[in-house]
Amino acid sequence: MTEQQKVHPVSDDFAANAWIDKEKYQAMYQHSVDDPEGFWAEQAKRVDWIKAPTKIKNTSFDSHNVDIRWFEDGTLNASTNCLDRHLTDRGDQTAIIWEGDDPNDAKHISYRELHAQTCQLANALKALGIGKGDVVTLYMPMIPEAAMAMLACARIGAVHSVVFGGFSPDALAQRVVGADSKLIITADESVRGGKQVPLKDNVDAALTRPGTEVCEKVLVVKRTGGEIEWKEGRDVWYHDLVDKQSSDCPAEEMNAEDPLFILYTSGSTGAPKGLKHTTGGYLTYASLTHQYIFDYQDGEVYWCTADVGWVTGHSYIVYGPLANGATTLMFEGVPSYPTHGRMGEIVDKHSVNILYTAPTAIRALMAHGDSVMDSSKRDSLRVLGSVGEPINPEAWEWFYRVIGNSNCPIVDTWWQTETGGILISPLPGAMDLKPGSATLPFFGVLPALVDSEGNELEGVADGNLVILDSWPGQARSIWGDHDRFVQTYFSTYKGVYFTGDGCRRDEDGYYWITGRVDDVLNVSGHRMGTAEIESSLVAHESVAEAAVVGFPHDIKGQGIYIYVTLTDGVEPSDALKKELTQWVRKDIGPIASPDVIQWAPGLPKTRSGKIMRRILRKIAANECDGLGDTSTLADPSVVDDLIEHRAIR
Ligand code: WTA
Repeated sequence: MTEQQKVHPVSDDFAANAWIDKEKYQAMYQHSVDDPEGFWAEQAKRVDWIKAPTKIKNTSFDSHNVDIRWFEDGTLNASTNCLDRHLTDRGDQTAIIWEGDDPNDAKHISYRELHAQTCQLANALKALGIGKGDVVTLYMPMIPEAAMAMLACARIGAVHSVVFGGFSPDALAQRVVGADSKLIITADESVRGGKQVPLKDNVDAALTRPGTEVCEKVLVVKRTGGEIEWKEGRDVWYHDLVDKQSSDCPAEEMNAEDPLFILYTSGSTGAPKGLKHTTGGYLTYASLTHQYIFDYQDGEVYWCTADVGWVTGHSYIVYGPLANGATTLMFEGVPSYPTHGRMGEIVDKHSVNILYTAPTAIRALMAHGDSVMDSSKRDSLRVLGSVGEPINPEAWEWFYRVIGNSNCPIVDTWWQTETGGILISPLPGAMDLKPGSATLPFFGVLPALVDSEGNELEGVADGNLVILDSWPGQARSIWGDHDRFVQTYFSTYKGVYFTGDGCRRDEDGYYWITGRVDDVLNVSGHRMGTAEIESSLVAHESVAEAAVVGFPHDIKGQGIYIYVTLTDGVEPSDALKKELTQWVRKDIGPIASPDVIQWAPGLPKTRSGKIMRRILRKIAANECDGLGDTSTLADPSVVDDLIEHRAIR
């Protein structure tokens, strides 16, 4: 039997105690697609509404009029749902376990404390002139203040836009300008793997860029006490302002469709897009999926290893778990520090029951052999989860056997920044697992596969993954550019949401995500547009032209392979390769570091001047035999040169 055919059936014991078993999944799924209005009206009751919605679903995927509204006459506040409503029953329960980069640093924050500190911060935001509808940028380490900042914004109706702390000043500036953000919340430095990252310096640099004058204030958490510059009148210490505020802050009554947050992500073309997520549908969906997909049971400790800079951190570190009154663990550091055993040691230290991580982290550990887990027992674990990229069956089995002691179901959760929450995933008490498959759709989700003309494929098939109808967690628009939203997601195939992913459906109806079919790279689970990297490179004086493609990478899933055509008269050299690598890291961030740079005297282009990426991808993957038809190229001989000089790995 090949790895791909291996099935791990649901254990009877697990199913007996799970929220959802096979029968229940079938019944609820059927209800959700037969009667979405009735199903979601019922599910929305898990949220505390100020005014309960009477209108449930009002959505159109018609490309002339894409309009998505859920619970549109309901009002609520997301922060009271994550905080206030838990105070009576679980005020003293730990809401956030924070584990610092240094293994000796940890703290527990109860729901009562989280509530009080969030209210203080919310009052501080008001004192800084922030109100309903204003956009606040968060550029923060993985510290509890990041969750507080998100919730404090939600409390007063401000819209947060979290920018991953690994992004460069330019990337930060671009997002501040794009969202018209009046305030940045940051820290002096973040600490990861024993190293300091100069967040405040990066903010200072970002705020010298044109257009960033919109940002009037910078609120700074003192994390390390490292040396930073200070701009009087603009910069405010968090502890100076927040500590003196009242811990009472009434929550703003928000419409279900008022924006909760913006989150930038990469697409195949142009600058990153700020996806707009709204309040009622998002919160309902994040909390429902968190409870059922991780089978979260009251009192359990749940750990998602993502960063709050990504959507996974939004939905499955902050909003989903806290709306459910869970204990959510937030880890500041990296899994390899101080040793590769750290992840298992954290599980033991805090008796983690549910561990949600990424294939790239699993593969990195796996490369060190089974003994990397010798320093921990991990017998508290009950459910494992994977997200961000396809998980190869070998990594799945290793995760299952070594980390999970062959004792925990794995939920391979497929979703996107745009989807707000998980769309395709096992429910651990309901699905037999096939390593590498995200299995079946969540309630209310209607996946379909289409060919390149948009014809729907039935049964066993391989095609482009689309979703036929709306679900409550879906992004409503691109901030300030609804046309781009329609163009990007609803125009390739009419009347459906196009995910950008390729997918196969097997004989059991299980979905196997095969990866992006557009020019988006997924490097260690981080989404990046090839166009963004290319435009960074061509801004360098030595670069005439650049083409970026992904190639299979053992640990990262995909690596970044760059073909560079130099400006006339510039000599290729290793020093120049280093310089270009630094250039991209500085321009976008270390996550965009090129793995391979190949000098390309010419790029394969059609007669109309379009670069044939298909060929470049093949060469980068060392698959030079199956290049297909190159006769339409303007100059087929460039291909021979590229093959001859390709980087052999
Ligand atoms: C990929 C992350 C296979 C996919 C939540 C998607 C996955 C992109 C999986 C979204 C998975 C995410 N199996 N591929 N379980 N999860 N992806 O917006 O290509 O950062 O389109 O959201 O990651 O990345 P994003």
